[in-house]
Amino acid sequence: MSELLRIEDFSFSYRHRNTTISILKKLDILIFPGEVVGLVGESGSGKSTLAKAILRIPDFKYEVSYKGSIYLNGNDLMQLNDTQLDRIRGNEISIIFQDPLSYLNPMFTIHRQIKEVLKHHEIANGIVADEMIRRCLLNVSFNYPDRIMRSYPFELSGGMRQRIMICMAMITRPKLLIADEVTSSLDALIEKEILDNINRLCSDYGTSVLLISHNLPTILKYANRIAIIYFGHIVEIVHVNNAQKGARHPYTKALFSCALAKVKDGVFPFIEGSIPKPHDVIVGCPFHLRNCPRAIDACRTTLPEMESYDEGSFRCHNPYPVEG
Ligand SMILES: Nc1ncnc2c1ncn2[C@@H]1O[C@H](COP(=O)(O)OP(=O)(O)OP(=O)(O)O)[C@@H](O)[C@H]1O
Ligand code: SF4
Ligand SMILES: [Mg+2]
Repeated sequence: MSELLRIEDFSFSYRHRNTTISILKKLDILIFPGEVVGLVGESGSGKSTLAKAILRIPDFKYEVSYKGSIYLNGNDLMQLNDTQLDRIRGNEISIIFQDPLSYLNPMFTIHRQIKEVLKHHEIANGIVADEMIRRCLLNVSFNYPDRIMRSYPFELSGGMRQRIMICMAMITRPKLLIADEVTSSLDALIEKEILDNINRLCSDYGTSVLLISHNLPTILKYANRIAIIYFGHIVEIVHVNNAQKGARHPYTKALFSCALAKVKDGVFPFIEGSIPKPHDVIVGCPFHLRNCPRAIDACRTTLPEMESYDEGSFRCHNPYPVEG
């Protein structure tokens, strides 16, 4: 099957005081039609930067630069100008973030804001648009869509606002949905409702998802494959069925065992040390600085290349062996 999105040798950096600071480093990720790819990694590893870089909407106040390619159905998004990209944003690729209030206009009703999306992408207007909005609100589990259409954002709870964002993102039936920590400010029950909603809509529409979450059990539940990012590098890509036992990279193993371990005596398990800062210049594999249990001499001098096998790929000089 040919892929929907191909991120190829992709890097993102910014200039600060005459220095180039790299945030994303030579990433390669494929997303197939209808597939959910989870993206996990510690805070500051570059997940949101990648989410925004795909649509070229970085919020850096410095001069930024992109290298490499991001192909959507074979067309390189990096070669498009702003007008061409504007047709893709919110139409072929939609994105939802953690905080819906920052993206909803407090002055306008929900109806007006969703209708604006349909108008902007020239999908529908008038009563046709109204009916599409009504149906879409029902699809995100609002039983009384007309009442919601008349509401202002401040009249809705956090979970309801996030469902409005899903509606706005999905009403165009995008090919790809990027969901960046969309439930991290919500309680567990609402989180499940929201993710089930996204999951159902995406499988109905055949939409692929790049699912970013701190919550590994969530990723294990909803994703088909998982990409693990560390200090701006993709260090491993694993199939979800193989993720816990079959991961080869020591960082993946450490991240998974911390994220899935039980809290003991009130202490959360954690990986020793912290992720390097973006301006740190590191020779070799960045994970050797955190006492990687499998580090060998080569790890201190050379960054490993990505290596592929049937079920996935990893970037490590001394990976864990395949478990029998
Ligand atoms: N607007 C910005 N200006 C400068 N540096 C930034 C900016 N946004 C992010 N960074 C830096 O880029 C790196 C990656 O940040 P990013 O927000 O992508 O991480 P993340 O993986 O999404 O983290 P989290 O899990 O906390 O959301 C971090 O070192 C961060 O400090
Ligand atoms: S390359 Fe070396 S330091 Fe890096 S994860 Fe693999 S074994 Fe550990
Ligand atoms: Mg983030």
